[in-house]
Amino acid sequence: MPEGLKIGVLASGRGSNFQAIIDAVNAGKINAKIAVCISDVKDAYALERARKNLIAAEFIDHKAFRKREDYDGKIVEILRKQEVNLVLLAGYMRLVSHVLVGEFTNKIINIHPALLPSFPGLHVQKKAMDYGARFSGCTVHFVDTGMDTGPIIIQAVVPVLQDDTEDSLAARILRQEHRIYPEAVRLFAEGRLSVQGRRVIIKDTPERPDEFLVNPPVRE
Ligand code: GRF
Repeated sequence: MPEGLKIGVLASGRGSNFQAIIDAVNAGKINAKIAVCISDVKDAYALERARKNLIAAEFIDHKAFRKREDYDGKIVEILRKQEVNLVLLAGYMRLVSHVLVGEFTNKIINIHPALLPSFPGLHVQKKAMDYGARFSGCTVHFVDTGMDTGPIIIQAVVPVLQDDTEDSLAARILRQEHRIYPEAVRLFAEGRLSVQGRRVIIKDTPERPDEFLVNPPVRE
């Protein structure tokens, strides 16, 4: 089990997934401290959430850096200073380079609002609808240098309904995001995740793995 887990969060927007992690830590479900939230967007509400919870909040302007690698070097510097040993991307809109991934191999986790490997990238709820998919969902995965390509930790399936709009589908998926992201972080904090090639092995899976690997029936 990682001793004294310290989490650093990278976020660009409203930070509702960040809030779900804060809540899980405060409820004692995740044994960790959230050390810092870093954003590339000055007025990201995620930074406000950090301040409200007495978590260090830092805005780093990418315009001050010539290359993505230099920007990531600055991020690494802050994370190191805060002794972070797990990095969570929570609505972070920048691709991360080898500088960050090399420093935190299999220690960066992301949440994506689709069932990877279907629909990587942006506006994926709309893409799933436009494609005519009957199911979409969300994926928590380790981060590599590709776009939404790292090993998958947990997924939740969400039906695409006939009368869905992009917003209604996104909202239904988001509810599952808030459930599975803290769950994945808890498994990491308990030292139960290991990466073997593309596969993530979860140690001591309960007798009923569906408790966390499959979403409970959705009743709305
Ligand atoms: C979420 O849908 C997440 O899956 C995606 O960006 C969105 C961020 O939302 N990566 P929030 O900032 O956590 O509310």
